[in-house]
Amino acid sequence: LPDQMSMAPVHGQHSPALSGPSVSVTELTGPRTGVPDRQFTLTAQKTMRKLSTGKTIEAWTYNGQYPGPELRMKQGELVEVVLKNKDIDAGVTLHWHGLNVPNAEDGVAGATQDAVLPGETHVYRFVAEQTGTYWYHSHQQSAVQVKKGLLGALIIEPATTPNPAPSSQLDLALVHHKLGSGGGMTLSGITGRTTKTAAPGTSVRLRLINADSFPATFRLQGASFQVAAIDGNDVHEPNLIANQQLLLAAGGRYDVIFTMPDHPVFLSPSKTDNDNGLLLSPHGSGEAPAPLPDLPYFDPASYGSPLPLPFTLQTTYDRDFQLVFDVQFGFYNGRLDGLWTINGRVFPNTPMLQVKEGDLVKMTFVNRSFMDHPMHLHGHHMLVLSQNGKPATGSPWWTDTLNVAPGETYIVAFRADNPGLWMDHCHNLSHAALGMSMHLVYE
Ligand code: C2O
Ligand code: CU
Repeated sequence: LPDQMSMAPVHGQHSPALSGPSVSVTELTGPRTGVPDRQFTLTAQKTMRKLSTGKTIEAWTYNGQYPGPELRMKQGELVEVVLKNKDIDAGVTLHWHGLNVPNAEDGVAGATQDAVLPGETHVYRFVAEQTGTYWYHSHQQSAVQVKKGLLGALIIEPATTPNPAPSSQLDLALVHHKLGSGGGMTLSGITGRTTKTAAPGTSVRLRLINADSFPATFRLQGASFQVAAIDGNDVHEPNLIANQQLLLAAGGRYDVIFTMPDHPVFLSPSKTDNDNGLLLSPHGSGEAPAPLPDLPYFDPASYGSPLPLPFTLQTTYDRDFQLVFDVQFGFYNGRLDGLWTINGRVFPNTPMLQVKEGDLVKMTFVNRSFMDHPMHLHGHHMLVLSQNGKPATGSPWWTDTLNVAPGETYIVAFRADNPGLWMDHCHNLSHAALGMSMHLVYE
């Protein structure tokens, strides 16, 4: 059986065993005709990259850029992305992390398409239905390819900009990632500190994207702020907060907004140092505020104001999956390693999440291991119902990538409204490659 997460054969044949009985993945495409409103071409290629240490390493990039080009579009647009592979031997794909596209556009090698080999081209087409902050990455041997740089930001702006538009706006997507081994932490490809000028009164939106395999803790100092969106979903009535750390799941996104004060604001993907990050300053210079020790963590489960929910803990669900995450030693793909298990099993023997279109599905995640598992469901958004036995009380918390820390239990739910064959896996991509991966299948 091909293993999409790690060892997918170069020519990832569609295995009939992987397709849902009544669903043919290849027919579940976006609009194949019509003139696109937005067109992009991304070419996967090896690119030599000079690090700040002076060392040169080989990165794998889209269009020679690390991170790849930012794809910006407007809600409702028909988007066409042409993927070319210049010289990545194992083949590449494009997966739109967090976007609920039709199944055949999801970009999972060995499941929804074959990997695109050197010299080949693949065309993705979908309508940008959602708004918000997303990202794209290759989904062929992801643990290797994402680490090496095959990723980028994808931003969908509302179809209409508010009228009148705010007089001065700064909207930045910041991609947190560690490139290869020895590449070091980067924020949008930059190691160290970047400084940008922002006039007092500017309305700032920082779109934080964690493209790394480990949770990132962001610290924003110098301004009170709001978390306006989580995983691309707007928070209802986000309250103003200050001096909190933001723990962002691997694969997750937070949009933070604030009004630029008349002194520097510093955003750092570190709780303790001032060496890395983005310094926004009224004059394009200045010092970052000193790190504050022991800042409390932002809690998405109690943030913002509640709204009526489409389903709750009391709802009767059509499906109820209990999923326990653990670790054990064993052989996988011919090597002895720590295997990351779901209900004691590794992919493809992990539970198959079988649903019918329209089903209400509940999932309980329990982490009995000693590492974080950022669980990412393709093609759907999950509503968090409870965290460690406590019902969520804030704005509806919709997520596509939920960090389940050691010892934690979450209950989430979603409506099965996007037929096809989908992945549900840990976005610590080496965990996914070592077993922690499941299929969601429509029967
Ligand atoms: Cu961001 Cu299955 O991936
Ligand atoms: Cu994991």
